[in-house]
Amino acid sequence: MKTACVWRFHLRELLMSGSHQRPHLKRPVWIIVLVSMVCIFLIVAYAYPLQSSAAAACNFFSSKGCTMYVSKPSGSSRVLTDEETYSQVVVTEILKIPSIPLKNPKIAFLFLTPGTLPFERLWDRFFQGHEDRFSVYVHASKEKPVHISRYFIGQDIRSDTVVWGKISMVDAEKRLLANALQDPDNQHFVLLSDSCVPIHNFDYVYSYLMFTNISFIDSFMDPGPHGTGRYSEHMLPEVEMEEFQKGSQWFTMKRQHAIIVMADSLYYTKFKLYCKPGMEHGKHCYADEHYLPTFFHMIDPGGIANWSVTYVDWSEGKWHPRSYGAQDVTYELLKNISSIDESLHVTSDEKKTVLLKPCILNGQRRACYLFARKFYPETVDKLMHLFSNYTVVN
Ligand SMILES: *[C@@H]1O[C@H](CO)[C@@H](O)[C@H](O)[C@H]1NC(C)=O
Ligand SMILES: *[C@@H]1O[C@H](CO)[C@@H](O)[C@H](O)[C@H]1NC(C)=O
Ligand SMILES: *[C@@H]1O[C@H](CO)[C@@H](O)[C@H](O)[C@H]1NC(C)=O
Ligand SMILES: *[C@@H]1O[C@H](CO)[C@@H](O)[C@H](O)[C@H]1NC(C)=O
Repeated sequence: MKTACVWRFHLRELLMSGSHQRPHLKRPVWIIVLVSMVCIFLIVAYAYPLQSSAAAACNFFSSKGCTMYVSKPSGSSRVLTDEETYSQVVVTEILKIPSIPLKNPKIAFLFLTPGTLPFERLWDRFFQGHEDRFSVYVHASKEKPVHISRYFIGQDIRSDTVVWGKISMVDAEKRLLANALQDPDNQHFVLLSDSCVPIHNFDYVYSYLMFTNISFIDSFMDPGPHGTGRYSEHMLPEVEMEEFQKGSQWFTMKRQHAIIVMADSLYYTKFKLYCKPGMEHGKHCYADEHYLPTFFHMIDPGGIANWSVTYVDWSEGKWHPRSYGAQDVTYELLKNISSIDESLHVTSDEKKTVLLKPCILNGQRRACYLFARKFYPETVDKLMHLFSNYTVVN
């Protein structure tokens, strides 16, 4: 445990030695200085376990706990910048705020779409009868949507252009969160696209999201070209390569986490500047797949599920996921998707390592998915026809 701790500390320092922040000491000298610092650090940690709770956590818990605390801003291994300290204080305080039990907690459904929503009729059916337990917000990035459902009329927020893969995607997500946060009854926030459909009924979705205290943010370590291959050292010192995560953009988020997203400008700016298409040497980074997965992995790893509740099928191995047409939509397909209880990640390196993990909530194995994409607009009639059948809980 301790050696892992020292080793981590050492590795960090080695990585940092390449950056401009470090005075150029001769190697043996700074290694001696470093080792002495580590020793002092450990002695202090043992002598003052309460004052140094981060270091204490490192000693008591596994090496995983060690990584979490020592390489994080909350550890004492690196002198933090002012901005990191401000950020850490704000995040820690927000996470400590207990959530006040509300009389009427609602789920905010945030639709990110170019224009008219092809599945508005299906969503209308989904929402029917649950009027006081949800709210709807629509961000239309290209053209003003034509709404047919009373739940959607008047729910368009002030929107802006979204360019696929660019930070404007994250900006649109933040705009939706900001609008939805203005209603104090909104306790959980779900981001959906125009090609997403519900695969369970409203009651199921409501209790699934409301009675867990976590956000369903997808996050995993992909050592391949579509994962850490997109990392840029310009993100140092705040974001190290070993923290850089990959995940789907389609999140659900509890209120605390949504407020933290509003408060963050430090990490947001790093991703805005250094995670974009056409970075150095033809490298492409997409902020919507990395910013929130990395940020929450760093600040509150235990507070996120690490999988997205929106199903998508990447098994065809193409640039875009599989899209379902009318001939694909059957009762069996929808039942298949809604009964999956293991989350799947595949690394993008040559090994194509498959990471399968059971979906566990409050200690119980559960179905992983509440929504699915991508469905072509032509499937709407078939989905409407099947909806009450495939969403029956059995
Ligand atoms: C969520 O609640 C469980 C108990 O209900 C608790 O053990 C756990 O620490 C909580 N997690 C977070 C991130 O608050
Ligand atoms: C998510 O992954 C992190 C490590 O990457 C882990 O610490 C955390 O416990 C995971 N979350 C859940 C709910 O299992
Ligand atoms: C549903 O799952 C079963 C078992 O995994 C599989 O054999 C079948 O082809 C699937 N059907 C559809 C429509 O995906
Ligand atoms: C719905 O389910 C019932 C019973 O399982 C079945 O008889 C009926 O044909 C199904 N309807 C459709 C549209 O699939």
